Amino acid sequence: MAVAPSWSEQAVELVGRAVMAPSSHNTQPWFFLLGEPYVDLLADRTRALPVNDPDGRELTISCGCALLNLVLAAADRDLQVENRLLPDPEEPDWLSRVSITRNTADRVPEADLARFIEERRTCRTRFESRAVEQQAVDAMVEAAAAEGAWLRPLIGDELRRRAVNLVVEGDALQWSDPEWRRELAEWMHTRSEGDGLTISAFTAPVAQMVVRNFNMGSNVGSKDRGLAENSPLLAVLGTDGDGPRHWLAAGQALQRVLLVGCSFGLRASYLNQPIQVASLRSQVSELVDGEGLPQILLRFGYAPQPLSPTPRRPLADVIEWS
Ligand SMILES: Cc1cc2nc3c(=O)[nH]c(=O)nc-3n(C[C@H](O)[C@H](O)[C@H](O)COP(=O)(O)O)c2cc1C
Repeated sequence: MAVAPSWSEQAVELVGRAVMAPSSHNTQPWFFLLGEPYVDLLADRTRALPVNDPDGRELTISCGCALLNLVLAAADRDLQVENRLLPDPEEPDWLSRVSITRNTADRVPEADLARFIEERRTCRTRFESRAVEQQAVDAMVEAAAAEGAWLRPLIGDELRRRAVNLVVEGDALQWSDPEWRRELAEWMHTRSEGDGLTISAFTAPVAQMVVRNFNMGSNVGSKDRGLAENSPLLAVLGTDGDGPRHWLAAGQALQRVLLVGCSFGLRASYLNQPIQVASLRSQVSELVDGEGLPQILLRFGYAPQPLSPTPRRPLADVIEWS
């Protein structure tokens, strides 16, 4: 007879799936404190991006993505969880406590989403030209709503043109800032383990030097224009407010949208520049009729070839027992 895994084995397995989440610059800005039987999610602000993300908005969204993975991974093990969102001005880094109450008799339907946790990857290349099926769009819109956020597809040439122009403007502004370029270069690594944006060992010294020292805004802008214009679907994910709780919800919504998209064979990538640049964010808001706060601008489509996984930090670096 198979021996049931201990709580400590289960908890480590759950965190192992949580950290498969996407994160800004692949910073993986999270920490997990394990207790009997709960998992606390904390923000690790030593991994913040003060130039790109001065308020820790994307940092919290990244943690929200990991949180949804954790909850789905528990459901996939037929564990019943209570996910208590905690962000509070007194304890700003303690984001959530996921308490495990008991093994459920019935498998919850959303547990099936967990099998896309490992499959999900950011696609940085062009997508195939075929359109995204409406059923998939509807399911992703529903997924965002289920987590208290919204996903608005940008339909029509005019809206798409305005969005693409904002992305290019965002690229120009970010690349013109030497501090922003320096921060990006610091997160470019050749490692196959750990964190950061992976670059080839062959080009690494040159690539980092170029990013650090040269304003490549117009090259990057024209590349992003091509990627965005050729994407079958552009969409804005947003929330009704703009504080840590909204960001955490946005992260859970983002991850649910990505996993649901994955279940339809879709891949996604990010065009967040005009949301990261504070002076452009209100123009992204106008694309969605000024309702709420845009958090993430995404492009979706079908990847022409399989995507390689990006590295993750060793679990021992992100887990502590309380
Ligand atoms: C909140 C958030 C913001 C992100 N912003 C960008 C972005 O502006 N540009 C980009 O190319 N990727 C962006 N990403 C994607 C990350 O770079 C990616 O998740 C990370 O490198 C890990 O790769 P993976 O998603 O394939 O696992 C973002 C991800 C998150 C969660």
